[in-house]
Amino acid sequence: MSPTPVDLTAAENLRVLGRVLAPLVAQGAIVRRPRATAWAERHQTDRTARTVLADLRARYGGAPLVVRIGSRRLVVVTEPEDVRRLLEGSPEPFTPATKEKRAALAHFQPEGVLISSTAERWHRRPFNEAVLQTEQAVHDDGPAVVDAVQHGAAELTQRLDSTGRFDAQSFTDAWWGIVLDVVLGPKARDDRELVAMLDALRRDANWSWLHPRRSGLCDDLESRIASYVLTPDPQGLAAAAHRCGPATAVGQVPHWLFAFDAAGAATLRALAMAAARPAVRERLLAEAEPAGPAGGPAGDSAPALLPYARACVLESLRLWPTTFAVLRDSTGPTEWGERTLPTDTGFAILSSFFHRDPARLGHADAFVPEAWLDGRNNADWGLIPFSGGPVACPGRNVVLLVASHLLTRLAARDLRVARGRYLARDPVPATMDHLGLRFRSAGEA
Ligand code: HEM
Repeated sequence: MSPTPVDLTAAENLRVLGRVLAPLVAQGAIVRRPRATAWAERHQTDRTARTVLADLRARYGGAPLVVRIGSRRLVVVTEPEDVRRLLEGSPEPFTPATKEKRAALAHFQPEGVLISSTAERWHRRPFNEAVLQTEQAVHDDGPAVVDAVQHGAAELTQRLDSTGRFDAQSFTDAWWGIVLDVVLGPKARDDRELVAMLDALRRDANWSWLHPRRSGLCDDLESRIASYVLTPDPQGLAAAAHRCGPATAVGQVPHWLFAFDAAGAATLRALAMAAARPAVRERLLAEAEPAGPAGGPAGDSAPALLPYARACVLESLRLWPTTFAVLRDSTGPTEWGERTLPTDTGFAILSSFFHRDPARLGHADAFVPEAWLDGRNNADWGLIPFSGGPVACPGRNVVLLVASHLLTRLAARDLRVARGRYLARDPVPATMDHLGLRFRSAGEA
């Protein structure tokens, strides 16, 4: 029988709030705050958080930890079997539409599937799966996706040719061009006003209940998205969304745009590893040959799968998860061990604790993309970069397609990353501030 959840002592509770949860909230759950992410890296906050949770797991024999946050009870699980129970039991009796997520995400995606009721999810989830082609490694629109990547990569390499360097900000500018192109079509590529609207609402969302909702701005964002979805470019996710149901699409696209931000962070960190480790770069380049980084000139043929590049992105997500916590609320009384937890109890799976747990993983703190290719990482419910079970990320294959092709194209340039020696060897840092990454061409000082 699964161990009974334990109430933490006041001192333990304070330690979890201060050393585990507060640094995550400070960095911004919905959009990262640059000063806070730099602070988190300086203090390697994920290492401290993992130590706190590992101590509590040892002390309580793997029992879920009941943390008090005011009047709210949050059950933090520490064993993969408990992760499995929560994820397989979604959306009922464990809904992903938790109080915290609804309060935050409603600022810019009130109709998003992740915060939908089980009844609304009934049609919104299949819609997402149909447009994103969840089960397909390479989306039917793959050639257009790779065209968009090629365009964004060219922007960055031009900058590299003229200045010899680029930083996270220039990467992000190019990344948004790719994202707008992939999601809304080429005519949206330069629509930075849309990005500014989304960013403003995401910053509000970081404050959750504490910030009033700006319904006018949210409506403006929706209208802007509708203008692309209702008369879409022939290629891109907007066209597929239009075919599958334009009315549903407009409510789902804000999540897609928002979620691509995480994919940019993962790609940037993977690129840092490729720049710091010649063996990683060589493998990326070998995989891209002979057809070239995008699997040949863009056209109608399906792009290359690039398994090693995908594995590098997955490894970046394992080591530095972009979803800090996967949250659930119970939809009814929950029997757990010898205890019955009331309806609306919150549950949390803290990704970086599970992803780097040396008790389960020999390669916990090492950069080992191979572990995604040889099956080592597949059978572990604790490794959940894209979550798992019926609510798992339906966009994972689209993400890996975009990210792997961009990574391969950029790795083709001989880059150096600032503080490369620090990243060149294992163990890798527990916390990596992607917003602080800077690259230069090999010849540059
Ligand atoms: C590196 C990038 C991404 C990561 C790490 C990621 C990860 C996740 C995670 C952990 C969840 C939560 C599932 C849960 O609560 O169990 C999720 C949900 C979701 N993701 Fe992603 N995601 C990424 C990018 C994307 C993109 C680009 C799209 C769309 C194009 C997307 C579409 C979705 C949707 C629609 C959901 C909600 C699923 C549901 O409620 O059924 N994601 N993702």
